[in-house]
Amino acid sequence: MSLMFPKWMNALPTLGAIASMGGVVTVIAGTWYWATPSFFEVGYQPTQPGTGFNHKIHAGKLGMDCRYCHSNVEKSPEANIPAVSTCYGCHGPNKVSPARSTATDEKTQFIRDAFDADESIEWRRVHKLPDYVRNFPHDVHLSAGVSCLSCHGQIMSMPVVHQAESLSMSFCLDCHRHPEQALVPKDKVTDLRWVAGELEARAAGQGTTNTDELTGMLWNAPPQACGACHQ
Ligand code: HEC
Ligand code: HEC
Ligand code: HEC
Ligand code: HEC
Ligand code: HEC
Repeated sequence: MSLMFPKWMNALPTLGAIASMGGVVTVIAGTWYWATPSFFEVGYQPTQPGTGFNHKIHAGKLGMDCRYCHSNVEKSPEANIPAVSTCYGCHGPNKVSPARSTATDEKTQFIRDAFDADESIEWRRVHKLPDYVRNFPHDVHLSAGVSCLSCHGQIMSMPVVHQAESLSMSFCLDCHRHPEQALVPKDKVTDLRWVAGELEARAAGQGTTNTDELTGMLWNAPPQACGACHQ
């Protein structure tokens, strides 16, 4: 049954509530397409091209900051996936570094092939909101001090990215109603190990940062009105 009928069907009675926003056609078309069980469910982990990309090695072991590759994440609503040229900077042909050891060389051939053919690597998308959810802004969340960890889980330990959180409406609203415990200093949002340690310490009453102060720095209270996320 759950495979046959996408979960929006359970919400049919509430659809009337957002009909007035003129979004119903989009709602139906959007959910019909995205609400397939393989998409946007916790644990969703598509097979990636080539030998894939390993966050545990690059962000974890090598300690690269998220913004080295996801360079727009603080400046725009959408987080970007890096171009082949970003990878080529370390995995190109004339590098003498650990990035060109014999073992790594074979595993990164697909990067040089794509670069030489002037093609992009077709990374498969992992996180996707239904089309009837509008305006999700990365930039606003990061400058408010919400870490990637809160929504994507411990990416630094993932050899292959999977969806760690439901990204459901109640997931969003739970935090919007009580954001204080999730806030960290802005300069720490991409330091996922530090954030994990701090949130754990807070739960034990031993956090090192002042959540009242962080909450006081928000521009606006997080929105709960339908129109903020559905238009
Ligand atoms: C060296 C480049 C690089 C760095 C550094 C990097 N990423 Fe990525 N990231 C990628 C690439 C390439 C993909 C697409 C392939 C994949 O999903 O594994 C990706 C995918 C993702 C996705 C899934 C996107 C989707 O399809 O929904 C998330 C979330 C993500 N990265 C978060 C992070 C976070 C958080 C950090 C810092 C802790 C980080 N990344 C550091 C290159 C990078
Ligand atoms: C700042 C330099 C740097 C950048 C940029 C970079 N890498 Fe790497 N990458 C490395 C190093 C160093 C290693 C070897 C790590 C090791 O041996 O532990 C590596 C290893 C790899 C491997 C082999 C990992 C394995 O499974 O053993 C792959 C595949 C790879 N990188 C893909 C990518 C892709 C795709 C991108 C672009 C999204 C990228 N790299 C960007 C430095 C980089
Ligand atoms: C408040 C929750 C939240 C935070 C914080 C957050 N993300 Fe996301 N991220 C999402 C959602 C939701 C999506 C799917 C957006 C959509 O479908 O429009 C997403 C999508 C992505 C994608 C895929 C973009 C694409 O076009 O394929 C990447 C990459 C990504 N996030 C990286 C990051 C990084 C890096 C950070 C931290 C610097 C971060 N995110 C912080 C919720 C969040
Ligand atoms: C862990 C906490 C947290 C989660 C999870 C979260 N948000 Fe937020 N969100 C915030 C905070 C804090 C703000 C207020 C930022 C400000 O205005 O300073 C905010 C603001 C927003 C705004 C208003 C942006 C603006 O321009 O004022 C939208 C829209 C939004 N969030 C959508 C979402 C959606 C959709 C999700 C779920 C996919 C989500 N958020 C998940 C904390 C969160
Ligand atoms: C903070 C952002 C946010 C706000 C505010 C919000 N929604 Fe949602 N809503 C979402 C997200 C995200 C989803 C997608 C859920 C999923 O993917 O399962 C969603 C899904 C829905 C759905 C589809 C059925 C379901 O439950 O999955 C309906 C109907 C809906 N919202 C109505 C409303 C109404 C009515 C309001 C105002 C009372 C509202 N929403 C306020 C983020 C929001």
